[in-house]
Amino acid sequence: MEKSIEKNSSNSKRSFLKLLFLTVMGVSFGGVIYPIIRYLSPLSQQKEGEKVEILKDEVPIGKAKFLTYKGNPAVVIHTKAGFTALSAVCTHLGCIVKWLEDKGEFQCPCHAGRFDVTGKVLSGPPPNPLLQIAVVESGAKIVIG
Ligand code: FES
Repeated sequence: MEKSIEKNSSNSKRSFLKLLFLTVMGVSFGGVIYPIIRYLSPLSQQKEGEKVEILKDEVPIGKAKFLTYKGNPAVVIHTKAGFTALSAVCTHLGCIVKWLEDKGEFQCPCHAGRFDVTGKVLSGPPPNPLLQIAVVESGAKIVIG
């Protein structure tokens, strides 16, 4: 009788440890896979037709305004040539670029990748330019997307 109770207790512990192990493995696996899938998910898979409107006055010449476009960081730059909208996600490993107003260029804080106002790579490890986003001027507004 005592052996039977010990055996049941041992099986119960084993089942609990097995469940605990599977739970820890599942959480760990999800924690690794989710960021990878999110990183690999391109901008184009998100909502189509989503446009963002801002007032031209919000972006004086020489300045940049960061905003969210289709759920991702984007930036509008105003130069003498007009308005340009770009993805603010570095094409190297996905860090968010910063606008250096004094230099008139973008710099990635992660590995010092540099981009010009059109998104073209100036230096550093980024393999591709920043993605361009359509911009249309409409009266006192600009429409992005
Ligand atoms: S993530 Fe931007 S340079 Fe590496």
